[in-house]
Amino acid sequence: MRSSWQKFKDMIFFPFRAVTLFEVDKYGLSSLQTERYDYVSKEVTGRCLDVGCGRNNRFINEFVDHGVGIDVFMYDGLTKKDIFLDMTKLPYKNEEFDTITLIANINHIPKRIRVKELSELCRILKKGGKLIVTMGNPVAEVAVHKLVWFYDKLLKTKFDVDGERGMDHDEKYYLVDDEIRGLLVKTGYGKVVKKYFWTQWGLNHLFVAEK
Ligand SMILES: C[S@@+](CC[C@H](N)C(=O)[O-])C[C@H]1O[C@@H](n2cnc3c(N)ncnc32)[C@H](O)[C@@H]1O
Repeated sequence: MRSSWQKFKDMIFFPFRAVTLFEVDKYGLSSLQTERYDYVSKEVTGRCLDVGCGRNNRFINEFVDHGVGIDVFMYDGLTKKDIFLDMTKLPYKNEEFDTITLIANINHIPKRIRVKELSELCRILKKGGKLIVTMGNPVAEVAVHKLVWFYDKLLKTKFDVDGERGMDHDEKYYLVDDEIRGLLVKTGYGKVVKKYFWTQWGLNHLFVAEK
């Protein structure tokens, strides 16, 4: 968990962190990934399922006491048991998890299966449990995706985890708040609360939806 001093530095240097996109913490500053994991981990209670965990299942391994990370693609650090090509049918019992997280990825669930997949996640979430969804401001999301593309093409970096997997035509750069709230209400979640990442100047945020 970041100290208040760390958060202050992260806030002051947010533009630098945003344009350099470093993945591991550097120069005494948190990476954007560390920062979103830090915000989300504060909301997690009990056993957590991180859906679309990405490389090395880092959120579960480093930020949560008790949980499982799954993805649709075999990124570095994942094994066969972590991969589910069809997230609309998961091999978990009803109400098996206390918290489910969708970190920087609800827009990557193809539109044609979004309702089905969120309903499936609702099935395996305990009554009273929380679904946590992070999503950036639309302008920030487009800017970051373009920047990642630019760095990877010109500087041969490997920031783009989604390009590595191959994007589906039904994925998007971002979903706006009303789309996210609408999806959550439609698929079985009740109260939805939005919280901003103030150390990213409010350009990123999360939703906590209660089942
Ligand atoms: C931008 S990455 C975010 C990775 C990680 N959660 C993070 O915060 O760094 C988007 C992730 O969504 C995953 N994804 C793609 N299709 C998905 C689906 N149908 N359901 C859940 N996750 C999916 C991708 O494989 C990728 O790991």
